[in-house]
Amino acid sequence: MAISKHCKGSLLLLLLLLLCNIACAKKSKPKQLHFYMLVIPQNISMLLDNPNAHYTAVRSGAPATPQSFSFGVLNTFDNPISKIPSLHNPADILGRVQGWYGDCGQDQLTLCLAQTFTYDDGYFNGTFSLVGVGIATATLKEAAIVGGTGDFAFCRGVAAQHRISSVSINFEENAWFQYTVTLKC
Ligand SMILES: *[C@@H]1O[C@H](CO)[C@@H](O)[C@H](O)[C@H]1NC(C)=O
Ligand SMILES: *[C@@H]1O[C@H](CO)[C@@H](O)[C@H](O)[C@H]1NC(C)=O
Repeated sequence: MAISKHCKGSLLLLLLLLLCNIACAKKSKPKQLHFYMLVIPQNISMLLDNPNAHYTAVRSGAPATPQSFSFGVLNTFDNPISKIPSLHNPADILGRVQGWYGDCGQDQLTLCLAQTFTYDDGYFNGTFSLVGVGIATATLKEAAIVGGTGDFAFCRGVAAQHRISSVSINFEENAWFQYTVTLKC
């Protein structure tokens, strides 16, 4: 009797688990993302505009008189993000990151950032936004992910970024950055 009761209980539990497996089958939450970003900043030391330019970041504001550490300079950007540090294969492109970075330090070159990633890897799809401040010369920069939309709705986390390469092509600096974004959703 005791055994059969136990069996009934186990069967019921199994049935519940099975039903939940079907009914509760939900998409998993994003935990960690790895991707790369290309930045081609406008070369403001060029006397005339570069006819071959395909800048992803342009200077969009500066103080009336130049300040130490570029204080007050603002840049607007629209940078591609990809699975590998190359854009040759369109299948590797994950989306873009758009926003502003400004020089906001008066005693060292410091970047203030406000940007939104539009990300679609075929499984996770949506946007997440970053706000932060970092020393421009630091090799590893961390900033807060403050929220998102789509599969990133209600996610928060930390984005770690470091530069992996920088080459000058046609008087343009092409810099690749690696991102690791750790999320709690
Ligand atoms: C991702 O979301 C965008 C905007 O909602 C949509 O246009 C696109 O088709 C989606 N991609 C996938 C793989 O579902
Ligand atoms: C920017 O342009 C100047 C020429 O005006 C050039 O000497 C310099 O190398 C360029 N910078 C980069 C990163 O290509």
